[in-house]
Parts: sequence; structure tokens; C-alpha cells
Amino acid sequence: SKSYNIAVIGGDGTGPEVAREGVKVLKAAADKFGFKIDFTDYDYGGDRYLRTNEVLPESAADDLRQHDAIFLGAIGHPEVKPGILEKGILLKLRFELDQYINLRPVKLFPGVETPIKDKGPEEIDYVIVRENTGGIYTGAGGISMKGTPHEVAVQSMIYNRFQVERCLRYAFDYARKSGKKSRGVGNENTLGLVGKTNVLTHVFDLWERAFHEVGDADYTDIRRDYYHVDATCMWMVKSPEWFDVLVTTNMFGDIITDLGAMTQGGMGIAAGGNINPEGVSMFEPIGGSAPKYTGQNVINPLAAICAGSMMLKELGEAEAGNAIEAVVADITANKLKGLAAGKMGYSTTEVGDLVAEGLA
Ligand code: IPM
Ligand code: MN
Repeated sequence: SKSYNIAVIGGDGTGPEVAREGVKVLKAAADKFGFKIDFTDYDYGGDRYLRTNEVLPESAADDLRQHDAIFLGAIGHPEVKPGILEKGILLKLRFELDQYINLRPVKLFPGVETPIKDKGPEEIDYVIVRENTGGIYTGAGGISMKGTPHEVAVQSMIYNRFQVERCLRYAFDYARKSGKKSRGVGNENTLGLVGKTNVLTHVFDLWERAFHEVGDADYTDIRRDYYHVDATCMWMVKSPEWFDVLVTTNMFGDIITDLGAMTQGGMGIAAGGNINPEGVSMFEPIGGSAPKYTGQNVINPLAAICAGSMMLKELGEAEAGNAIEAVVADITANKLKGLAAGKMGYSTTEVGDLVAEGLA
């Protein structure tokens, strides 16, 4: 039978607690569907940094590359200055492992409360493909004349054709295999480009031309839409059923996926994958480390569990990944009182048990 090597980075705050439940569920899925998973723990995170003064060991990327995938809890420690761990661990690994796609499903599970009036699981079910290694996130720029009245700060949005094209191709492929139809504006599989062509005329000129060139060349079966990013925020609230697959830059994707997460019930359930389709991908709940709940066994592990489901699908175990999702849907519909920490009617470990038992 098949066997997978998974690196587990529990990380900071409640990260290890939710990662533990994710691992519990992954083990149950492996038993049920007849494959094997070996987990190796890595202690990267704030505690290790405070102890060793080193954010990531030199060997980290090479060590992680030896695995089939990485399962991450959360990064962010209250005693470490904001930015150090985020940049030094999360962003560093995305860049070093060339995880150039950040895949973030916006999916409302049944029974989950959404702030979007009159919309349900039928309407809120799409995917955002966020470019994950370029744009403003490259850190290019600087500050000069610092501390003077004339100081100048520059942070550049940089994209080359190669980065844009590989991201677009991933998104087109995803739109093709998603098998969904864009319900609001057409009856074909649809990819929507999210940009700001009216202002950021250089970067989005490149994105828009590449979008249509790649589309004309290889994806004439996929309908193409374009949305400005500000309008996208409106439509995500007003008419989320319009969307099938959206593709966008790193920064815009960061912003709109938090909005998307809220429409699907919040950080307790939102999962994402940092994907290198040719390499090692990293899956995570996108909610952060929620340090104030650490050790209380109250945080919602469903986001981590859904990240595990995404990981299995990416590894080729779609049946197992889908089965986890189905159990999660059953639990949100029939068991949990809510998704927020302490408001679930169950503890963290109990929710993990529910999913694992549901699978068995
Ligand atoms: C995310 C996070 C990160 C990002 C931060 C923690 C660096 O917000 O994964 O969306 O901006 O990408
Ligand atoms: Mn973010």
C-alpha cells in the first residue's frame, strides 16, 4: 500500500493543539482508506527561537524537502516581535520551497453561521488561487533618509512573466477540474482574474495579457472574467455564487481570503495550502496561533482538519480527503453549536475524536 512521509510543524500558541487533532484525523483516514502515513515533528516556532535565537536551522528547507508534504499548525508567538517568525518561518518556507500557489477554498459548511444574509452552502463555495511567492511579498524596496522629515519608503510589487503564467496555468487547470459552473454569470467553468487594471497599470497589464494569451492558447473551454479587487470584496459579500475559481496576486489574495474566511464562518474552519505542484506543499489552518487560548482545549481544530483533507487530495488520496470533508459537514450540520473557541459545545480533542470516529 501507499505510504507518505509528513513533516508536522505544530508551531506556536494553539498550533500544536489543532495540529494534533489534524494528525489524529489523518491517521484515522489512513486506516480507513488503506494507506500509511509517517509523521515527523519539527519544533520550529517561537519557543525554539527564544531558546536558540535562531528562527529556522540552516537545514530546515532541505529536511522538509525529504517529505511528501508539510502539515503546519500556526506561527506567531506573543513574546516575539511581530514579523520575525512570520517572515523567518512561514514566508521563508513558502519562498525556499517555491510554494507558488496559495490555495484557499471559501466553502460554507452546512449549519455554519455566515454573516452574509440569505446565502448558504450552495452560494458560498468557490476557490481563491493566490500567487504565493511574488508581488509585494518579495520584500524589494527600502527606506532612505530614515528618521528625517524627507524619509522615503518603497515597497515594490514585482512580477515576471514566468511567475504570472505558472500561477495562471494552475488556476486554469483548477477551474477545469473543479467541475463547477459559475452560477451567476454563465454556464461554463469560469476563472476570474482579480486585479486593479485601472490603477496598477504595469503589473496588471502583464497579468491581464498573460491571462488572455494563456486562455486563448490552452484553455478556450474556460470562461474568463475580470474583477477589480475592491469590487471583488463587494461581490464576495453580495453575490458569492458568481464565483467558481478566482486568481490573484499575493497581497490581494492575502486580503480577500480573510474576507472569504469570514463569509465561511471564520478562522475556525478556514484552511489553505501552500502548493508547489512539482515539489513539497504545506497545508495550514489560516487562522493563526490564537495564543490566549493556548492549552485550554477550546480552540476549533476543524480548520486544521480541513487542511489535512486538502493535503490528502493533493497527495492523490482524493477519496480520503473528500470523506473527511463529508464528516466535517455532518458535524457542523448536526453536532457543533458554533465554531468559535469555547463555543463549540465540545472541546478541541472531542471535535478531533468526532471526526476520527465519523471516518471509522
Ligand atoms: C497568511 C498570513 C501571512 C501572509 C502572514 C502571517 C505573513 O496572513 O498566510 O495569509 O500575509 O501571507
Ligand atoms: Mn493573511
